Amino acid sequence: MEQAQGLLAFCRPGFEAECAQELAALAAQRGTCGLARSQRGDGLAEFIGEDAARVGIGWEETIFARQLLELIGRAANLPANDRLGVLLPLVEGDPRRWCDVRVEAPDSDAGRELAALCRGLTSALVAALKSRQRLDRRSPWRLHLCMTSGRSGLLAAVEVARAPPWPGGIPRLKFPREAPSRSTLKLEEALLVLLDEGERERWLKPGMRAVDLGAAPGGWTWQLVRRSIHVTAVDNGPMDRALLDSGLVEQRREDGFRYRPVKAVDWLVCDMVEQPARVAARMAEWLGNGWCRFAIFNLKLPMKKRYEEVQRCLARVREGAPGVELRARQLYHDREEITVFAHRPA
Ligand SMILES: C[S@@+](CC[C@H](N)C(=O)[O-])C[C@H]1O[C@@H](n2cnc3c(N)ncnc32)[C@H](O)[C@@H]1O
Repeated sequence: MEQAQGLLAFCRPGFEAECAQELAALAAQRGTCGLARSQRGDGLAEFIGEDAARVGIGWEETIFARQLLELIGRAANLPANDRLGVLLPLVEGDPRRWCDVRVEAPDSDAGRELAALCRGLTSALVAALKSRQRLDRRSPWRLHLCMTSGRSGLLAAVEVARAPPWPGGIPRLKFPREAPSRSTLKLEEALLVLLDEGERERWLKPGMRAVDLGAAPGGWTWQLVRRSIHVTAVDNGPMDRALLDSGLVEQRREDGFRYRPVKAVDWLVCDMVEQPARVAARMAEWLGNGWCRFAIFNLKLPMKKRYEEVQRCLARVREGAPGVELRARQLYHDREEITVFAHRPA
């Protein structure tokens, strides 16, 4: 059992190294250094350093962190019959009061086995903190206990106002039965996570026009159509019949790397499975030429040097479309890819 100082990030299993690399880069930009640590498959990355939590890195500026916590301690060899007996002194070593408590496990194979244990520990920890008068609803801080196995855990804290609203940083969305493909959840999550409520209202208005490159069978188009947006769906593959019958969709059986709109549109969305550099260059062309105001696109990542490739692709878009605002994130519904929102200033 020991105190620790640093950052703890939850991420998609398989992307721990990229997440750790990103934390180190963000810390370096703020002039602080430390040690980035990760193990493939854990669904976690750590950045150990005295000042790491103080320099104000927010989860929303990261691409790979689903949630980002201040690491305050680690415990190993917890006895199965009295885990809290060992953990509580570590919690009490921190003078803060807590508005709430979350006991959770990473989104990994090992983590899923710990769900029942986490539920049991949540009620026990809440009761223990209550009896010690360490819970206070007005406190800005929430206490996290991340169980990494039945015998080990990490203690962490977060300022609720700076944390994602979804437990574990995972927005659980229900698949809409009428949507033609599960990919629809990617665009739904992108709109939920990359835009705030006001932006969704202002920037997704009925009657707007969009182009969907690589649209078939139509999961992304469906998200736009349900918001009464007109869509030109570019793909050689078959589109969902109901979407074509909606009166809001026109299909163009053309190459998404050559298609050009006759008139500028509000939105471009793109889910073509292609080299990320090629997609980035295409997005730079659309945004740079003013063919669209907003774009959401996927960058399918290579097997190696994925962090570097992401940085190269984002730089390529910025270079082709100066002044563009980019927000990039590996969504829960993304696999070996990330999703980017681009906004061209008026
Ligand atoms: C992952 S699927 C898109 C799924 C779609 N977003 C949905 O939600 O249903 C990729 C699509 O890109 C299309 N595609 C790949 N290369 C293309 C290209 N050069 N031009 C147009 N479409 C392309 C494929 O035909 C395929 O339908």
